[in-house]
Amino acid sequence: MDRPPGRRADPLSAPQVLISEAEIDRRVREIASEIEASIEETDELLLIGVLRGSFIFLADLARALTCSRKLDFIAVSSYESGSSFAGEVRLIMDVRTGVAGKHVVIVEDIVDSGRTLAYLIEVFAARHPASLRTCALVRKPHQSQDVAVDYVGFDIPDEWVVGYGLDYNNLYRGLPYIGTIEPQE
Ligand code: PRP
Repeated sequence: MDRPPGRRADPLSAPQVLISEAEIDRRVREIASEIEASIEETDELLLIGVLRGSFIFLADLARALTCSRKLDFIAVSSYESGSSFAGEVRLIMDVRTGVAGKHVVIVEDIVDSGRTLAYLIEVFAARHPASLRTCALVRKPHQSQDVAVDYVGFDIPDEWVVGYGLDYNNLYRGLPYIGTIEPQE
């Protein structure tokens, strides 16, 4: 279980491994190579991590790259009206780095409905980057929003996944692998 010794046990069962640490490591290095192959030495590369889920993926991706790169973060959340999900995305924290003229890669942990990434593409496209690409560690099937993902770590089944930044109720983000759980209703 992903918990420190002596702490209260999490009520959920241990995740089943879907993607191992070694598989993630290999794929992160491949994506880094693909990104590097797509830019020139003089290009300004800016990786933008989408908080919170992307923080571990971004950290490993940034270290796997060898080209000059800048990092920044953006925070968004799905807009909720009362208890119902309104399908809107709200900007919580913007990047501090200017985007104009830079080769931007938006780094997501997961593309589920695709709404978050579609929103972010709209936000950053309006800021005149030299290029704008998208990267997601995992992608679920059947996005309700048609969104292009340039670099996909893994296409996964429609299950609840945790670990390597992905959470359930903000738990499990620190797992070194990606696992599946059955959320409690
Ligand atoms: C998750 C994830 C993506 C988004 C994807 O964020 O990190 O940003 O949902 O979902 P979508 O494709 O349906 O828009 P979440 O709101 O769970 O916040 P977190 O990153 O803090 O876990």
